[in-house]
Amino acid sequence: MQDDTLRQLELKYLERRIPRYTSYPTAVQFTGDVDGGTYADWLTALAPDAALSVYLHVPFCAELCLYCGCHTTVARGPAPVAAYVDLLEREIALIGTIVGHRRATHIHWGGGTPTIMTPAEFTRLMTTLREKFAIAADAELAIEIDPRTLTRDYARTLADAGINRVSLGVQDFDGQVQRAVGRMQSFEQTARVADWLREAGITAINLDLMYGLPYQTERSVAASIGQALTLMPDRIAMFGYAHVPWMKRHQKLIPEQALPDGTARFAQSRIAAETIAGAGFSPIGLDHFARHDDPLARRQSEGRLHRNFQGYTADQSVSLIGLGTSAIGSLPQGYAQNAPSTVAYRAAITAGRLATVRGCAVTAEDRLRRDVIERLMCDLSVDLAAVGATHGVDAGHFARELAGLDELEQDGLVTIAGQTITVPEYGRPFVRAVCAAFDRYLDPGDTRFSRAS
Ligand SMILES: C[S@@+](CC[C@H](N)C(=O)[O-])C[C@H]1O[C@@H](n2cnc3c(N)ncnc32)[C@H](O)[C@@H]1O
Ligand code: SF4
Repeated sequence: MQDDTLRQLELKYLERRIPRYTSYPTAVQFTGDVDGGTYADWLTALAPDAALSVYLHVPFCAELCLYCGCHTTVARGPAPVAAYVDLLEREIALIGTIVGHRRATHIHWGGGTPTIMTPAEFTRLMTTLREKFAIAADAELAIEIDPRTLTRDYARTLADAGINRVSLGVQDFDGQVQRAVGRMQSFEQTARVADWLREAGITAINLDLMYGLPYQTERSVAASIGQALTLMPDRIAMFGYAHVPWMKRHQKLIPEQALPDGTARFAQSRIAAETIAGAGFSPIGLDHFARHDDPLARRQSEGRLHRNFQGYTADQSVSLIGLGTSAIGSLPQGYAQNAPSTVAYRAAITAGRLATVRGCAVTAEDRLRRDVIERLMCDLSVDLAAVGATHGVDAGHFARELAGLDELEQDGLVTIAGQTITVPEYGRPFVRAVCAAFDRYLDPGDTRFSRAS
């Protein structure tokens, strides 16, 4: 399909606000009906052999990047981080007591910037995790790193603690772009950190890049990707900048006149995808790319890729525990989110209570639709009959949704063969619009999500 046709279709379908479907139902459906008591009941009811995935959120950074949409604040000195580490330690113990010494197959440290903790603090928390959970020998232990602040010693600390996958924040190597977003980070700095990590034995490296930032052009995006590729990453995440200054007030400092318009953003995302795929990476879902031998690519080819709050994952565990402020747990019974504010989180944890403030129980219908949406987001294809069969519903269940895909089908963005829906490769950026047809909570007038591209 021609680029200008795709751009027209983007205007038609993606100017709408559509969720990123890191969960279904999405966080917009969360209410105060789910509290710490509900979450404790759900945890207690977990099957004895259920393996866990654990996410730990560290909501602090040394300084704020102007584009940042993450849940984080600037740490004024080491004291708030140290106090937070104490709370996390207590929360790990609290959850550990409820679930018993359970097998954990995946640990993910996100933020914010988890490496804002001192090496000693990080090691202490990893020790507590190992005391409270049976971390599998082949578990993936991942952490998000800001290369501007990591030291060679810290790289060794991470390796000694068992970290075996890292994600480095880069965004763009162009000086003008970096100045506009308040994040100065040289290529050499990033390269040095990648070397230190490899020297310490951590070889699985992901780079986070962005398009749609101020002053970015197709050329500059392609140039940044070219530089990033010389670092030989295993994975690249290519995020479209989500500009939501009404929610993230510091984004008001982004020079809006220098933001690429919709057409330019579209061209940037296309050149990014072509450049990364041209270097031998497989596109994964909406915004990830992985080397063909990477677990993400392997899982995708097996139809076993999953999507959770951290994005795309090779992790197969059904139960995710979220620790720290704003972290979301995902259990067979539903979702439970911790208090986003440190004050409320601290009050709960110091009182020996779970910090859950909202969430959403999932119904049988939600589980069915969640599976349909997840398969679409991960595989760009879903066999409704096969998914329906695993939930005990017949082929006619989605007749209305199938009819609702008529327009997307006429526009060439989906093909429907019997009960199988497939999004063609060129339609990858539109997959969210296809998922939206199966979202029974979606209100077309809702403006809380960022643009869909
Ligand atoms: C927690 S940060 C990564 C670790 C570390 N804090 C750093 O920045 O180096 C997660 C990633 O989210 C992406 N990100 C942050 N704000 C974003 C936004 N407004 N739109 C799209 N992606 C964003 C960036 O690519 C960033 O690297
Ligand atoms: S992008 Fe990373 S370092 Fe920058 S403010 Fe966000 S979380 Fe912190």
